[in-house]
Amino acid sequence: MFNLKVNEDVSLKLLEKKDAKELFDVVNDSRSYLREWLPWVNQMKHETDYEPIIEMWLKQFSANDGFQAGILYKGKIVGMIGFHGVDWANRKTSIGYWLSEKHQGNGIMTEAVKTLLNIAFTEYKLNRVEIRCGVENEKSKAIPERLGFKQEGIIRDAEYLYDHFHDCILYSMLAKEWS
Ligand SMILES: CC(C)(COP(=O)(O)OP(=O)(O)OC[C@H]1O[C@@H](n2cnc3c(N)ncnc32)[C@H](O)[C@@H]1OP(=O)(O)O)[C@@H](O)C(=O)NCCC(=O)NCCS
Repeated sequence: MFNLKVNEDVSLKLLEKKDAKELFDVVNDSRSYLREWLPWVNQMKHETDYEPIIEMWLKQFSANDGFQAGILYKGKIVGMIGFHGVDWANRKTSIGYWLSEKHQGNGIMTEAVKTLLNIAFTEYKLNRVEIRCGVENEKSKAIPERLGFKQEGIIRDAEYLYDHFHDCILYSMLAKEWS
C-alpha cells in the first residue's frame, strides 16, 4: 500500500475494496463526459462492479507490474492514473489516466503524470514511457505535449469505443529526455 504526495492538495493511493463506492460515485457523476474517450464506462453499472477490478489492480502492484492509483484532491477521489503493466525486459511502460469533469482545468493530471514519470525513470529505472491519446482528444494530448513528450506517429484504429474504432497518437518520453 502507498500514499504518494503529488503536491499540497493532491496525492495518489492504491485503492482498496472499501473505496469501490466512492470510485463508482465519481465515475457515475462524470459518466457521459468520461464515456466519450474511455471504453469501459458503460460496463460499470454498480459499485460492486469495481470490487474485482480493485482486486486485480492490487494484484498488479504485488506482482511488481506497475500500479493503478486513485488520485485524491483534498482527500477525495477525483480520478485515476496508472501504468498499464511494465515491460521490464525492454525497460518501458505506458500511462493511462482520467479525471472527474469538475476537477479538470487545474493541472491535477499534469502533476500526477510528472509523479509517475519520476517513479518510472528514477525508481523503476525504465528507459521509455508511452502515452496514447485519441487524435481528437485535445485535453489528453495537451498533457504529454505540455511535459515535452515526442509524438511518434498515429496508431490507426487503435481502440474500439462502443461503436467505432478511433485512431490514437503515440507519444513517448525517454529517460535521457526527462529531468
Ligand atoms: C484527459 C484529462 C485527464 C485532462 O484533464 P485536464 O484537467 O485538462 O488536465 P490537467 O489536470 O493536467 O489540467 C490542465 C489544465 O489546467 C490548467 N492548469 C492550471 N494550473 C496548471 C498547472 N499548475 N499545471 C498544468 N496545467 C495547469 C492548464 O492550462 C489546462 O487548462 P486548459 O485545458 O484550459 O489549457 C481529462 O480531460 C479527462 O479525464 N478526460 C476524459 C478521459 C480521458 O480522455 N482520458 C485520457 C485517455 S487517453
